[in-house]
Amino acid sequence: MTDTRWTAIENAAQPSLAALFADDLARLDRLTLDEAGIYFDFAKTHLDGDLIDAFAALARAQDLAAKREALFAGEAVNPSEGRAAEHSAQRGQGSPKSVAIANALHARMRSLAEAIDVGALGDIRHILHLGIGGSALGPDLVIDALGRGGAAYDVAIVSNVDGAALAGPFELFDPHRTLVVVASKSFATGETMLNAQSALAWLAAAGVADPHGQLVALTADPDKALEFGIDETRILPFPETIGGRYSLWSSIGFPIALALGWDTFEQLLEGAAAMDRHFRLAEWSINAPALAAFADLYYAQVRCGETRGIFAYDERLRLLPAYVAQLGMESNGKRVGADGKPFDRDSSAIVWGGTGTDAQHAVFQLLHQGTHLLPVEFVAVAESDDGLDPAHREALLINCFAQGAALMAGNEADDPARACPGDRPSTTILLERLDAASLGALLAFYEHRTFVEAALLGINPFDQFGVDLGKTIARAIAQDDDSVKLDASTKALIERGL
Ligand code: F6P
Repeated sequence: MTDTRWTAIENAAQPSLAALFADDLARLDRLTLDEAGIYFDFAKTHLDGDLIDAFAALARAQDLAAKREALFAGEAVNPSEGRAAEHSAQRGQGSPKSVAIANALHARMRSLAEAIDVGALGDIRHILHLGIGGSALGPDLVIDALGRGGAAYDVAIVSNVDGAALAGPFELFDPHRTLVVVASKSFATGETMLNAQSALAWLAAAGVADPHGQLVALTADPDKALEFGIDETRILPFPETIGGRYSLWSSIGFPIALALGWDTFEQLLEGAAAMDRHFRLAEWSINAPALAAFADLYYAQVRCGETRGIFAYDERLRLLPAYVAQLGMESNGKRVGADGKPFDRDSSAIVWGGTGTDAQHAVFQLLHQGTHLLPVEFVAVAESDDGLDPAHREALLINCFAQGAALMAGNEADDPARACPGDRPSTTILLERLDAASLGALLAFYEHRTFVEAALLGINPFDQFGVDLGKTIARAIAQDDDSVKLDASTKALIERGL
C-alpha cells in the first residue's frame, strides 16, 4: 500500500549535487549549521529546499514535535515495554521529577568517586570495567577520546566473553590495586557476569582478602548486585527508563568520572544538554539532528542507499563508528512499527565505518567507483592536542576535505577504469576542538538523529527484542536443553567445537 505521506519526498526531482550548488547561491548558508561548537555541513547531500519542506511535512504528519516533547516530558515513548526513555533527564533536560532523581544519583556517583580518590577502597590505581554493548561502548569511546593526555587511573574496558580479552588486564594490573566495575543494566548479561566471576577469582587467587570489597556495580537492578555480594555503598543505580545504548550519561559513565574527573563528566553532560536545547527549540529546517535524519531517510528510503559510512578523521574518535552503529542499528533495525504492525518500508541504513586516513587506503575505492550509493559522513576536529608538528593535523584535514570534494565532483577520464562518476553524497561534521562539551553535544546529536528517523518511520527505537532469540538458543546449548530443536549444521559445530 502506498504511504502518501512519502509521496512528495519520493517524487521530488533528483538534481545532481553540482546542479544544486549552481542553482542556489545560498546553498551553503542554507545547509550548514553551527551549534554547540560543531559545524555541520549538509551541503554535499542531495537535500534542498523542496526536500526539506517535504520532510518537514512528513514530520508534521508523524507528529514529530509532539513525540519530541513526549520524549523530554518522560512519557512512555517506548510502548512495547511501557516505558519512558529518559536519557536526557540525566543532563538536566526532562521532567522535573526525573531530573531531580538524576541529580541525586549523580551525587551518589560523585561521592563514591571522591571516596575512591582519597583511598577509601585502598590504593586503587587501575579500573577494570566489565560491561558489554551500551554498558561499554560509551565509556570506552569517551575515555579513549578524552583521556589521551593522561587519566587518573589506568582503565581497561572488557566486553567480550573471550578470555583473551580479560587476559591482558589480568597480566598488566596489580589485583590489590584494581577496582572492578561491573556495568550491566540488567545485571544478568551472561558475558558480563562470567567476566565478573573471573575477575573475583583473579582477585582471590592473588590473595586479596575481600575480593567483593573491590567491586562496584552500575545497574538498574540493584537487588541483583546485592545478591551478587556487592555492598550497597558501592552500587550505583540508574533508572530503568534509560536504555543501554543511551546510558553513558547515567552511572554507566562512572569510569569516565573517575578516570577523567567529575568536572569533565559534568562538561560532557552540559555539552549534551546544549544539543538537547537546540533539538528542542530549532525549526526542522535548521535543526541539526533533524536535517541529518532527513538525509539518512532520503538515501535509505528513496535512493536505495542500504548503508551509511562514518569515518572519523581523528584518531581520538576511532571508536565513534562502533558507538553510532549500536545506537542506529539496535534502535532502528526493526521490522514492525511502534503499533506492532509489520513495517512496509526498509529499516534504517546499516551503519559502518572506520578512521581516516586509513580507510582511504583500504575501502574508499568502492565509495568512489563502486555501483552502490553509499552516503558518507566525515567527522573531523579542527584543533589538535597531540603537541606534534601541525603538519599532521593539516594533512589529516586536507585529506578529509579532499575526499568529500572528490566524491561529489568525480572526474572524466578517457579510460573508463579511471573515471569516477561523482555526485556521491557526504556530510561533514567539524568540531572546533575535541573536549568533553563538544563530545557530549556530538553524541546527543546522534541520539536525536536516531530518534527523528524512528519517529518519521513510525518505529519504536527504544526496544531491542531481536537480540533475545540468539541468547535463548545459547542458553539452551549451554544447558543441554533439548526442548530447543537445533539444525544439523549447528549440532555438527557443537560436536566439533565444544
Ligand atoms: O543484548 C543487547 C543488550 O541488551 C544491549 O541493549 C545492552 O546495551 C547490552 O546488551 C548490555 O546489557 P546489560 O547492560 O543489561 O548488561
